[in-house]
Amino acid sequence: MRNMLPPRIVVFATVLIGTLAIMPFAVVAWTRSSPSSGRPIHIVQDMDYQPRFDTQTVNPLFADDRAMRPQIPGVVAVGQSMDDVHFSEGVVDDAWAAAIPEMVPLTMETLKRGRERYNIFCSACHGYSGYGDGIVNQRAMAAMANADGPIYGTAWVQAKSLHDPEVRDQAVGQIYNTITHGIRNMAGYAAQIPPYDRWTIAAYVKALQKSQDATIQDVPPQERARIEP
Ligand code: HEC
Repeated sequence: MRNMLPPRIVVFATVLIGTLAIMPFAVVAWTRSSPSSGRPIHIVQDMDYQPRFDTQTVNPLFADDRAMRPQIPGVVAVGQSMDDVHFSEGVVDDAWAAAIPEMVPLTMETLKRGRERYNIFCSACHGYSGYGDGIVNQRAMAAMANADGPIYGTAWVQAKSLHDPEVRDQAVGQIYNTITHGIRNMAGYAAQIPPYDRWTIAAYVKALQKSQDATIQDVPPQERARIEP
């Protein structure tokens, strides 16, 4: 039988090649299972690794070697608060601003713009007159009164009446803040309405409140005779 075995050299070569052939798999298995602080071997790079500068690192491209570039004067980053907190936050001396900022002139034009914006963005819930009886509220109330119970399985928080004394007594800056950031169940409108228009709306809300809560004292004396019996 002995002479039926292949020549020794063939046996030797087969064993050697077989051993070498499993080496890559053994190496992969070994490296995958042992921790290493080195970068993993990443055969298909795609865009996983690209040159970049981390914060506070060096970049010799610039004369000052800083990767982080100083702010260019006059540039305002997106979302960065403006210096004028009256205009951007509705705050003056740490209290809600009692007047609209200088940048927004208190004119008929401004109030008309505010009315238009209010009718677009607010009236659906608060109603055209501000009593919290907008079309969305009516629909929600009808849904809640449905014999089968609330259609959407959720409670409805009515939009607050803007003539509620609690809201009526608020400074215009606080109204501006409510439009910007929302309040409790009401979402903020900073993303949809730019600051200038938020001010026109806040001014219009004050006018709307006045329209429902004026006394004869609010009428200039020379005009009173016209309306007083
Ligand atoms: C999707 C409905 C909805 C829209 C649109 C909406 N609001 Fe409201 N608003 C509410 C609800 C609901 C409340 C009461 C929130 C609560 O009490 O949880 C409220 C409350 C308020 C209040 C009372 C804040 C306070 O101090 O109690 C003001 C002021 C107000 N909204 C102004 C506005 C203005 C101005 C707009 C338009 C830019 C607007 N809202 C758009 C639903 C809405």
